[in-house]
Amino acid sequence: HAQRTLVLIKPDAVARGLVGSVLARYESKGLRVVALEMRQIDADQSDAHYADHVARDFYPGLRDFITSGPLVALVLEGDEAIEAVRHLNGATDGRKAAPGTIRGDWSLSNQRNLVHGSDSPESAAREISLWFPDVAAGTTGL
Ligand code: CMP
Repeated sequence: HAQRTLVLIKPDAVARGLVGSVLARYESKGLRVVALEMRQIDADQSDAHYADHVARDFYPGLRDFITSGPLVALVLEGDEAIEAVRHLNGATDGRKAAPGTIRGDWSLSNQRNLVHGSDSPESAAREISLWFPDVAAGTTGL
């Protein structure tokens, strides 16, 4: 069924000039861009986005990284979009992600891993309303 998911093309991907290459993976797969904006976020916005991770030992480093430069936030739509994006992204740790995935092909890091994708329908709804409050979270008539 049609779903929407929130994707971040993180500051490492922007700095490395990989925005187009990453976006091409999603679009080539058949996912449709519903919203897209380049932004640089502050610590409060990082805390809100990563609410589930703020207590983790790696979070201060993650917050420094995600606020370090511009990123591209987008909403993608398509059949089973949440799982499809996570498959395209690959495992969190770029060193372990399968070749052919975004992280597997272009990342050698557990933190600077190029992309974020919502991990569940609940996360997608929360993250889409956080990043794009004007974009209705949920399915369309696809
Ligand atoms: P993301 O999909 O954005 O969700 C949480 C992020 O935390 C993850 O991608 C990584 O960027 C980061 N992360 C997860 N685990 C670790 C870790 N062990 N060390 C550093 N960063 C991590």
